[in-house]
Order: sequence, then structure tokens, then C-alpha cells
Amino acid sequence: MNFELVRGICYIAASIFFVFGLKMLSSPATARKGNLVSAIGMLIAVVTALSAMAEIRWAWIIAGAGIGSTVGALAARLVKMTSMPQMVGLFNGFGGLASLLVGWSEFHGRWAGADATELFTMVTILLTVLIGGVTFSGSLVAYGKLAGVIAGKPILYKGQNALNSIILIAIVAVGVFFCTRRLGGVEASGLAGVYVALVVIAAMALVLGVLSTIGIGGADMPVVICLLNSYSGLAACAAGFVINNNVLIVSGSLVGASGIILTNIMCKAMNRSLANVLFSGFGSVTSAEGTGYQGEAKPVSPEDAYLILEAARSVVFVPGYGMAVAQAQHVVRELGEMLSENGAEVKYCIHPVAGRMPGHMNVLLAEANVGYELLVEPQDVNPTMKAVDVAIVIGANDVVNPAAREDRSSPLWGMPIVDVDLSRTCIVLKRSLRPGFAGVDNPLFFKDNTRMLFGDAKASVTQLVSEFKR
Ligand code: TAP
Repeated sequence: MNFELVRGICYIAASIFFVFGLKMLSSPATARKGNLVSAIGMLIAVVTALSAMAEIRWAWIIAGAGIGSTVGALAARLVKMTSMPQMVGLFNGFGGLASLLVGWSEFHGRWAGADATELFTMVTILLTVLIGGVTFSGSLVAYGKLAGVIAGKPILYKGQNALNSIILIAIVAVGVFFCTRRLGGVEASGLAGVYVALVVIAAMALVLGVLSTIGIGGADMPVVICLLNSYSGLAACAAGFVINNNVLIVSGSLVGASGIILTNIMCKAMNRSLANVLFSGFGSVTSAEGTGYQGEAKPVSPEDAYLILEAARSVVFVPGYGMAVAQAQHVVRELGEMLSENGAEVKYCIHPVAGRMPGHMNVLLAEANVGYELLVEPQDVNPTMKAVDVAIVIGANDVVNPAAREDRSSPLWGMPIVDVDLSRTCIVLKRSLRPGFAGVDNPLFFKDNTRMLFGDAKASVTQLVSEFKR
């Protein structure tokens, strides 16, 4: 039996599972199945890769699989829904670290045997260690910012871009030295130099990951998260070339490409170019307390909010990060159903960067069984917003900030938002007048047609539901 052929066929089957799984993940209706299909593909890939190994230390494989599965299962069960974004960021970083270690270990084996190594392999080892290192340390910083361990505002200093450029040039210089010293042709005394070069590259990659991520903050974090996701795929793809594993090359390319597409979507969602996000330092100019929009916010009681809603014929819900914090998605769905029964047309408008991770609001509303046909995007609902009777903002802030449209000096200027301020009445559910993640004040709270329903979003919506039931 030709085992090589069978393995090749298994790898193609695994790749097909990945492609279909990814396609299914693009719609909330099929996302769960897509996850399962991709996991089956990964199982096929792992078993096939193991079958190709001449000598396997099963104790290590079983211990690794056991520890990994336990950590994964515990994280899935114990980590709170609001901590999901930082967990996803952290796991992303571990993907980068794994690639770095694969590249390093392959190099170590060749170095110890002083095996002649092709220029191509040396370049792929270099790329694996470099991209893996940047992904790992960059993701740790992103984790810190999302978890609130590090301040969300960008950390900027003089000569920041120059320092990053110098580190990049140094990496290229050491990288050229590393790649051109084919191990087999190097004198024994020169072998240590090649090893030191790789360690220096790994160290500089880790530093570059930190320095290039601390300068990005505020509303730009979605782009960083998607970009790091893409890097982790590219690092895995490079690792696939290092160990000559086709399915790793395919899966790494899929993650890299989908991450870049997502990065592009996030850039468009904020009307920023990638270069502007990476090098401008969002929110560093205007301080959180800087804009200080004046006016009087008009609080509304749940009873009065109910009367407004009861008379409404069209209602748009706009969820944001606060809905995730309050875990209000189930009562929001209940309120939506009551409004529909009352004769109102109900929609849920999801902004691409609402929440703290791509698709955050979609996941929450899907969990609460909100019909997918009710979900719309800002460009679908904005043109008809003036005809909407009530826009209910559930713990969203930056994604409904009209300063993005009205105030050229605002850091949010130019970012497409959900135009809730143009609806006939806008009811904002949040606990205070504090700004959102970007730290930018919101003039929406002081508009004539805005009513503030202060309090925890879940408690407020529950009160509205009780009013309807009564
Ligand atoms: P934010 O602008 O962060 O605003 C969330 C609001 O929820 C806060 O102003 C807060 O106000 C309110 N809130 C918190 N807990 C609440 C509770 N229990 N009940 C009611 N309200 C509560 O959210 P957004 O509009 O969804 O915008 C997302 C922001 O995060 C954007 O700036 C985006 O760029 C950034 N970001 C997004 C991502 C991704 S990938 N989506 C990743 C990283 C960062 P109070 O404190 O007054 O209640």
C-alpha cells in the first residue's frame, strides 16, 4: 500500500474540511456546524501527520494533548462571556508562540547535526521565528488592553516609529547573516554564531511585537486583533514550509488570508487606512475629558420609556459592549418579541466593531435565538433612520457617537456609525454619561430627541418587559 498517497489524500480531505468549515463560519446560521467541520478537518490532519512520523514519543503526545484539551475545556466552561475577547487574543498569541517553537526546534535539530540546510529552509525558519515572536508578544499586549490590565490609550513617545524602524532594519541585517550561513557549510566555530543570530532575531521580534502594539489604542484595537490573527496564520504557514507539511501550509494560509480580509473590513468600518491605524496612535491627541460636550441629558423612567415604545411602529435595537457586560441579550430578545406582537417592525443593527471582538454581538444575539433575518448592518438602516420611531441603544457608545459625523476635531471623525440620533426618539441604556472604550465623549446623550434610561442594561430591559406584561 502506498502510504504517501493515502496521506496526501487525507491532507486534501482535511483542507477541504477547513475550507467548508470557514465558509460556514461566515454565517451565524451555519457557524456552529462550521466549527465542528473544521475540528474534524484538524483531527484528520493531526492523525495523518502523526502517522508520517518514523518515531513517536507517545508519552509527550498524550501529555500535550491532555494538558491542551484540559486548558481548552476549562477556558470554554469557566471564562466569562465578557472575557472571551481577551481569551481569543491570548490563544491567538499562543498560535504564534507554537510556530516560533516549531521553527526553533527544527533549526536546533539541524544545527546539532550540522546538516546542510537550503537557503529556502533558512528563510522559512527566520520568518517563522520572526512572525511567531511578533504575534506572541503583540497578542499579550492586546490581551492586557482588552482585559484592562494595561491602559487602553496608546502609549506614545518621541521617536517611536524611528525606533521600530531601527529594530526592523536590525532584524533584516541579522536575518541576512543567519540565512546566508548554511549550516552544513559553516566551520564548527561559526555554528554558535548562527545560533546566536536566531536567538537575537527571536528577542528582537518579541520586542517589536510589544513596541508596535502599545502605540495603538482606543477604537483601533479591532484592527490590531484581526491583524495579529492574520500574523498567527502566516507564522503557521511559514512553519508548514519549515517542516514540509502541506496541510499546515494550507491552514496557515487560510487563517492569514481570512485575517487580512477581516482587517480590511474593520479598517472600512472605521474609515481608516491600515497605515493610519498602525502609525498614528488613536486618541493620543484628544484626552478623554478633552471634548466636554455641554448640555443637559434627559433621564427617562422605565415607565415612560415603556409608553414611548408602546406607541412605536418601528424599533431598531443597537447593542454594544454594555449588553455583553450586563448579559442582557435574552431579555432584549424578549422585549423585541413583545414589540413585534404589539405591531412594531423590529430590527437589530450590529456595527462591525461593536463589543470587543469581531462578531461579538452576533454571537450574543444568536445565543439568545434572535432570528438572523432581523439582523441588519448600519448601511442598511441608516438611510431610513429618520423614519424609525425608536432607536434603543443597549450599552453601545462609540458606535453611535455622532461626533464621528459632526465634529472634525473628534478622534472618531469619519468613522461610520449607526445614526441613532436621526431617529424620532433615541433611548440610551447605560449606567452613566461616561465615555466608551475609545475614551471619547458622546454628544448623543445631550440631543433633544435622546432619553437616558440609566442603570444596568439587563435590569432596565427587564423592567420594560414587566411593563409590557402588565
Ligand atoms: P463602548 O463604546 O465600549 O461602550 C460600552 C458602553 O457600555 C459603556 O459606555 C458603558 O457605559 C456601557 N455599559 C457597560 N456596562 C454596562 C451595563 N452593565 N449596563 C449598561 N451599560 C453598560 O462599546 P461599543 O459602542 O460596543 O463600541 C466598541 C468599542 O470597542 C469601539 O471603540 C471599538 O473600536 C472597541 N473595540 C472593539 C473590538 C472589536 S473587534 N469589536 C475590539 C477591541 C476594541 P456606562 O459605564 O456608563 O454604563
